[in-house]
Amino acid sequence: MAEQKKILITGGAGFIGSHVVRRFVNHYPGYHIYNLDKLTYAGNLENLKDIEDKPNYTFIKADITDADGMNKLFTDLGFDGVIHLAAESHVDRSISNPLEFVMTNVLGTVNLLNAARMIWNGQFAGKLFYHVSTDEVYGQLGEEGKFTETTPYSPNSPYSASKASSDHFVRAYYHTYGIPVKISNCSNNYGSHHFPEKLIPLMINNIMNKKPLPVYGKGENVRDWLFVEDHATAIDTIYHNGHTGETYNIGGNNEWKNIELVKFLCRLMDRKLGREEGESEKLITFVTDRAGHDFRYAIDSGKLMTELGWKPSVTFEQGLEKTVDWYLANQDWLEHVTSGAYQKYYQSMYVNR
Ligand code: NAD
Ligand code: TYD
Repeated sequence: MAEQKKILITGGAGFIGSHVVRRFVNHYPGYHIYNLDKLTYAGNLENLKDIEDKPNYTFIKADITDADGMNKLFTDLGFDGVIHLAAESHVDRSISNPLEFVMTNVLGTVNLLNAARMIWNGQFAGKLFYHVSTDEVYGQLGEEGKFTETTPYSPNSPYSASKASSDHFVRAYYHTYGIPVKISNCSNNYGSHHFPEKLIPLMINNIMNKKPLPVYGKGENVRDWLFVEDHATAIDTIYHNGHTGETYNIGGNNEWKNIELVKFLCRLMDRKLGREEGESEKLITFVTDRAGHDFRYAIDSGKLMTELGWKPSVTFEQGLEKTVDWYLANQDWLEHVTSGAYQKYYQSMYVNR
């Protein structure tokens, strides 16, 4: 039997990372998947309960800002591929604490690049460093147009500035040292296991609990939403079939004004919860706008669709219904992440065992 390839996925206990880990563990028995995660507030091993006992899966608790730790890990395990998702990911938190975003998103990425460069040592056949990024690096759009792979970078938040910087380092390591890299820039994701600080899970949680629904400003800002499992299939497609040294934009061609999205969600949940139509909309509360709030994001994913044949599997209506159904069926998950009980899960699964 051919030797298993060793793939390191960073940030695999987070929202998108857990979907990517699940996909790779289930679809590629020929790979051994190492999930490296620090388990910050956003990382939750309960997200991966269904695959944690698979023979081709190993969890590693580690911090990507620890350069020596990364060098040792890469030396010990000799990864063939890296899919890098670990990051601080919430714009509002980046406004309160930009330095944390520099440390994890910029320094952490450079540490991983250095470790890969050291162990691959110019022998790049069969090796790949895949960096997962965001469309927010391109800045904001007005009413018209979409981001393409050649749109100039113009980040506006500390979060997007840190992601833009990390993208530049990945590109620079390709050009300077020849490390085989790929980068993808994706639009806003939604789906199961999403921490309830981001718009969609926060609104679902608050509608369930009849709490106010805080809409920033007038709710006129536009985001382009993609179902998280479709992001995972796009990463799989690009990892295996994309061209080295290239960037791919990923999006669902699915733009919504925040206020329209929140109202749509209210109607869907009123129906699911057997509430009177219009009941949840009464919870909408307009609050002070986010500082530097980008007006509109929209992704042109034509390159990925035409060159690599990827397309989303669900419409927004289908994806959102699946998402709401998951949250309604997994209220204990929400309760655990909001109470921090998942930290105890780690202790019982990985420390006291
Ligand atoms: P998330 O916040 O849910 O998960 C991030 C994960 O990284 C967590 O498990 C956390 O514990 C881990 N982590 C944080 N700091 C770490 C460190 N120093 N060392 C090791 N692990 C650490 O984020 P997400 O929404 O799943 O996003 C994943 C990636 O995708 C990020 O790079 C983000 O920029 C990118 N992205 C996100 C979206 C989106 O809509 N959420 C869209 C496009 C791109
Ligand atoms: P968010 O989910 O934080 O993603 P991002 O800022 O990375 O796009 O926010 C999505 C949009 O929803 C954004 O325009 C800000 C807005 N928003 C609200 O109106 N209320 C909220 O409580 C949150 C978290 C976001």
